[in-house]
Amino acid sequence: MILVTGGAGFIGANFVLDWLAQSDEPIVNLDKLTYAGNLQNLASLAGDRRHLFVQGDIGDRELTDSLLLQYQPRALINFAAESHVDRSIHGPKDFIQTNIVGTFHLLESVRDYWSHLPGETRKSFRFVHVSTDEVYGSLARDEPAFSEAHRYEPNSPYSASKAASDHLVRAYHHTYGLPLLTTNCSNNYGPYHFPEKLIPLMIVNALAGKPLPVYGDGQQIRDWLYVKDHCAAIRRVLAAGHPGETYNVGGWNEKPNLEIVHTVCTLLDELRPRTDGKAYHEQVAYVADRPGHDRRYAIDARKIESELGWKPAETFATGIRKTVQWYLDNQEWVRDVQSGAYREWVEKNYGERQKVRS
Ligand code: NAD
Ligand code: DAU
Repeated sequence: MILVTGGAGFIGANFVLDWLAQSDEPIVNLDKLTYAGNLQNLASLAGDRRHLFVQGDIGDRELTDSLLLQYQPRALINFAAESHVDRSIHGPKDFIQTNIVGTFHLLESVRDYWSHLPGETRKSFRFVHVSTDEVYGSLARDEPAFSEAHRYEPNSPYSASKAASDHLVRAYHHTYGLPLLTTNCSNNYGPYHFPEKLIPLMIVNALAGKPLPVYGDGQQIRDWLYVKDHCAAIRRVLAAGHPGETYNVGGWNEKPNLEIVHTVCTLLDELRPRTDGKAYHEQVAYVADRPGHDRRYAIDARKIESELGWKPAETFATGIRKTVQWYLDNQEWVRDVQSGAYREWVEKNYGERQKVRS
């Protein structure tokens, strides 16, 4: 069996669902269930004996030691993290605690478990650390995309905490020989994406008749990848990646935020037109920029393609259509995630950002 951390969040839940749709190998899913963790994402697995959910913290040594000992996983995939840049700006503490200290404790726990495994099992054990392209910092418009050799230059408390965790992973391979692999992926989108992030926020706000808050001039560029393609890349790295290596994962889909927002609006105009006959893009509102906002990310994904044969299956056009349709088909999920705590966050992040122009 495999152990997954953070498997009730956006990417982790998609990974768990895809894994069990393709394989009968059981999963132990350790997740703290922070505001971002949601067991409804895994509702279709109710009663499925291949999925064992454990609520807990990756930084809880006693718990991780006992899970490793009890279930003897052949691999671990670490998705657990605080993941939202804006939240890291408002309050970095949880990011340091989970992304750095939590990863450290998890590595220590795994080091102990792995060092006591018998020969062949020890040799084939793998730990995949799921990280981000944000560790590389920001690119100018004409700079080449991030390769695995790009220097680390994180700019937000979130990306700095992920960079620190990547360095720990690197050091544990180099020093102790732990069979660790790191993936650095670009922006994901797809089902179960929490509506604090750009794409789901735009869909949810558009349908609710609320403003669509675009930070700054909306010309910041991200490289978008459909979440199921990211999950396939991680499965490939787990199956065939070389310990100690890092793999950049991206969709070859660089787009400015404003284009993303307009694409979402156009799809909604087609699939769920406004009752007043107006276009959704009329709801766009330019608001104060994110402090320290990275201008451009872009991933050079040639290494994972040439060495491991992974390529994204979705284009942006197919992936975004599926995503918008998913949100339209899952309005109950959308309603349920907009709890009081969610509304408090929206007020905190957007309340103070006065409208700049529309
Ligand atoms: P998410 O915020 O949706 O989910 C994170 C999950 O981790 C939640 O279920 C949460 O409950 C859990 N968690 C948080 N702290 C924990 C702790 N201390 N112990 C156990 N569980 C804990 O995040 P996501 O978007 O699914 O991202 C998953 C991973 O992928 C993160 O490491 C993130 O840095 C990385 N990543 C995300 C993207 C993206 O576009 N979303 C892109 C590249 C990399
Ligand atoms: O690049 C990978 C990263 O992508 C992951 O490591 C992070 O976990 C993930 O959250 C994501 O980070 P971003 O900061 O790029 O994602 P977010 O959806 O928050 O923002 C995307 C872009 O849209 C960014 O330029 C900020 C902008 N934005 C975002 C929000 C929430 C807006 O203009 N308005 C908004 O309301």
